[in-house]
Amino acid sequence: MSRIAVVGGINMDLHLFGGRRRSSGAALVVDHYFTEPGGKGGNVARAAARLGAEVRLVARVGDDEFGHRCVDAIAGDGVDVSAVTFSTTTPTGFVAIELNHGLHRTLVFAPGANDELAWEHVEPTLQELTTDEIVVAQAEIPGVVMSALARHVSSSGVRLFLDPTPPEDVDGAAMRAADVITPDRAEAAALVGRTDTSELWPLLAAAELHDAGARTVVVKLGATGAVLVDGWRSRQIPTLPIEPIDETGAGDVFMAALAVRRGEGAGWDDAVRFANVAAALSVASQGLLLPDRATVEAALADAG
Ligand code: RIB
Repeated sequence: MSRIAVVGGINMDLHLFGGRRRSSGAALVVDHYFTEPGGKGGNVARAAARLGAEVRLVARVGDDEFGHRCVDAIAGDGVDVSAVTFSTTTPTGFVAIELNHGLHRTLVFAPGANDELAWEHVEPTLQELTTDEIVVAQAEIPGVVMSALARHVSSSGVRLFLDPTPPEDVDGAAMRAADVITPDRAEAAALVGRTDTSELWPLLAAAELHDAGARTVVVKLGATGAVLVDGWRSRQIPTLPIEPIDETGAGDVFMAALAVRRGEGAGWDDAVRFANVAAALSVASQGLLLPDRATVEAALADAG
């Protein structure tokens, strides 16, 4: 069984569907909406637990209705939330997500208590980790915590799986400290500092990030799978053809599945294939869909 520690964000998400404006500057009017626990850290932790890992989460929320609802949902999936702390002065992070044909059109993010996560909240958990455990992080945590985390894994030998999102908040030291980075196409473009122009571009960007010191690079391409570059070659790994209804959390499910399979000893190709399928399944309905292990295994078997 994989053992995974997630250091990341928790937010209450507001999903907005069928948005339209009568004129520029007018209110955005939507057909329907709902709120749901989210945040990249919380999503990865829950997804990894449903895929069979032993998971703990380090994060910070407000001591408010949203914070307790999020933490209850995460604990309900079997994640150890004893290292999630509650702020009495700052509200839980909040994200409003406008969806258009299943894809994100606009996002409004209030980081709230995520910005209060400090190294003193994270360090006790990291000190307990053994080198067979994997730490997963994204940049929804303060930069000083990310830098300290990068230094810690470099000296301790614990593997860091880093989703470099948002890419503006990820520096070269963090990417070089990571065992793998998993940008999507737009994030890879931001990391290499160029826009995406050709079919071959994800392979070139992944190779460039690898040359810059990232040990393994996986560029997530949605409907066309993922590009994988490790020490010796580049290849594209396909996924299932699924029409997206709500892409929220797909990257988090991808990361969770990748960490779960690597933690179980799978090679990179197998782990990316598993992650592609898990992420594809996760976009098939409105809201956060976190597939369980049996569902992913069955879809992989069907895909051949
Ligand atoms: O990756 C999806 C997540 O990103 C959402 O749950 C939202 O909270 C944002 O952090």
